[in-house]
Amino acid sequence: MMRIDIITCVPSLLTSFFSHSILDRAYRKGYAEVVVHDLRDYSTHKHKQVDDYAFGGGAGMVLKIEPIAAVIRKLQSERSYDEIIYMTPDGARFDQPTANRLSLLKNIILLCGHYKGVDQRVRDLFITREISIGDYVLSGGEIPAAVVADSVIRLIPGVLNDETSALSDSFQDNLLAPPVYTRPAEFEGHKVPEILLSGHEAHIEAWRMEQSLLHTQKRRPDLLKDHNN
Ligand code: ADE
Repeated sequence: MMRIDIITCVPSLLTSFFSHSILDRAYRKGYAEVVVHDLRDYSTHKHKQVDDYAFGGGAGMVLKIEPIAAVIRKLQSERSYDEIIYMTPDGARFDQPTANRLSLLKNIILLCGHYKGVDQRVRDLFITREISIGDYVLSGGEIPAAVVADSVIRLIPGVLNDETSALSDSFQDNLLAPPVYTRPAEFEGHKVPEILLSGHEAHIEAWRMEQSLLHTQKRRPDLLKDHNN
């Protein structure tokens, strides 16, 4: 079973997310476990302080190294980790190939930044990879960690009901997914494309591929240069 440990100073942001949806099912079926750690539990300060003023001045607090070192070392004493990942807007941009690679790992740690980020020595001493989920700044790394954990866990074979459905996602082959329809076959005069009702599997597959290409051409032509088919 894959294990993802998330270190945060706002655990409640994450625990409700992971107790819902497919992630809880993945846990109950024995495919993946997410464990959330409260950084404050590792603070030795009287008020459980985990941040402090930046040396040299400037606005914003910085997460201290000692509680982060303590939680990471405790986890490392219990099992070995393939990656210790820091969520940060100056990390490498997260994408589907990265999700695919991470889904093959056994144990990973996701460290959520807050305020102005973490003491640089945390990054130098412990972090093996830094990930950004996009070119915008969030107030903490919790949502980015949830994004990474969700996209990785759903790729583990067996987590989704239909084993092939993760493979047909947008981006898996550098194409956007084709449109999908369900009943009714006609809504207020708007009909489902006839071919989908035809029962002819090969024609339907060809139609879907054509729709994917058209859709990608229109919205994300940048993806097509990497698409080989
Ligand atoms: N923390 C704050 N903003 C972030 C982003 N865009 N990606 C990852 N971590 C972040």
